[in-house]
Amino acid sequence: MPITRRHMLSATAGSMLLPSVSWGRVLGANERLNMAVIGTGGMGTGHLRGMVNDKAKENIDVLGVCDVYRRRLNEAQRIAKLDDTAAVIEYERILDNPDIDAVLIATPDHWHCKMAIEAMEAGKDVYVEKPLSHTIEQALACRDAVKRTGRVLQVGPQGTSDGRFWAARHAIADGRIGPVTWSQGAYCRNSRGGQFNWHIHPGCGPQNATDSDNYVDWDRWLGHEHGLAPKIPWNEDHFFRFRKYLAYNGGLATDLMYHRLAPLLLAIEGHDGAYPRRVVASGGRYLEKDERDIPDTFFMMADYPSEHTVVLSSVMTNDDTWPYVIRGRHATMEFGGGIDMHQQRPWEKEFKAANADILGDDTSTCSMPSVSRRSHRDNFFDAVRNGDTLACNVDLGCATMVAIKMGVDAWAQDKVLRWDPVKEVVVAS
Ligand SMILES: NC(=O)c1ccc[n+]([C@@H]2O[C@H](COP(=O)([O-])OP(=O)(O)OC[C@H]3O[C@@H](n4cnc5c(N)ncnc54)[C@H](O)[C@@H]3O)[C@@H](O)[C@H]2O)c1
Repeated sequence: MPITRRHMLSATAGSMLLPSVSWGRVLGANERLNMAVIGTGGMGTGHLRGMVNDKAKENIDVLGVCDVYRRRLNEAQRIAKLDDTAAVIEYERILDNPDIDAVLIATPDHWHCKMAIEAMEAGKDVYVEKPLSHTIEQALACRDAVKRTGRVLQVGPQGTSDGRFWAARHAIADGRIGPVTWSQGAYCRNSRGGQFNWHIHPGCGPQNATDSDNYVDWDRWLGHEHGLAPKIPWNEDHFFRFRKYLAYNGGLATDLMYHRLAPLLLAIEGHDGAYPRRVVASGGRYLEKDERDIPDTFFMMADYPSEHTVVLSSVMTNDDTWPYVIRGRHATMEFGGGIDMHQQRPWEKEFKAANADILGDDTSTCSMPSVSRRSHRDNFFDAVRNGDTLACNVDLGCATMVAIKMGVDAWAQDKVLRWDPVKEVVVAS
């Protein structure tokens, strides 16, 4: 049998040349990319269907699926048309399969980094859903693991693949709106039944036979043996509605604000993002007073060392939202089909000079088109295959996570939090 790159192991002389702890194959530009999905709930199943549909177009295949809930695992197996050995409850079996090149992780947040780090150490590339992690320590460890292993890792906020933010990045770097001082983003909803009170399948849980559709490996979902979450008895509200509980995520901040902050940081700071200097937060559980411990109305502000502030709001009790806006000394940037820039009158001269190439008859305002980009997932395939620039690399994903988690903790602890960039720890005051 010819030795293919797929079968290369780290214990060869070549291992000296690569940073990987161990590596999978190096994929040729025309070779098929073999994926697996870990966590086939709402988002993972969406990704799975997308990849199955795009098999031929993207030259990919799905060789494995994994979930601790038998019903979802069975459904994923059907969608991907896999045999029983390729549909597993234990994610380690996916990582042990040398034919799988990359994994897409769409479990609840508290598992993201453990799985991502182990996958990279097993020589696989990783697409990990947002937010990058549950804790700051996990995010930093994952960032360091990417550097150590040399693997490709895309974090999942798909807004970073929105070409308007890449156009904004160029415009800001070119000085078209002057120095940025503040920006805003929001993600708001309203519902009668209580936000995140999603459907519960009755009768599920670890008490069922392991081959029953209703079986859940609850210990594996919690991950308490790895210190990922506290050990508690089976709780269907926690299982089906994990976003309501700080034990597994940061509520609105990690579920929704992360989507807003990552593109803003991309546009303002560049594609590696930046760590905040100080974070404050406010809000409360004003109306949704069920068993949840997350706020229903949440605001945070993050100050950055490059001297701008990001203001974020996420409100589940009123869905009148704010658009994205980035404010510079010379102009304000708004996001429509492309980006629109409106001058600040005292800085008219500077605005005209910086935008002379695109000004029309009305010289107080101008627009730039969006940049055309492939989808977030396809960008990951391109990065694995051709080394293309990732839309949300681990640096941007980690920097976003640090600010977002500081927001969660500032609210929960009722404190102002600062980031120590040397020790990479949060300091409370
Ligand atoms: N990018 C986006 O727009 C977007 C949208 C929705 C969700 N997400 C993210 O995707 C992730 C999943 O969200 P969801 O709504 O799909 O949740 P979900 O509860 O519907 O799905 C998560 C699945 O992971 C499984 N799981 C949990 N622990 C596991 C383990 N140890 N091994 C294998 N499987 C395990 C669960 O059984 C469940 O089926 C979250 O982190 C969320 O933030 C992103």
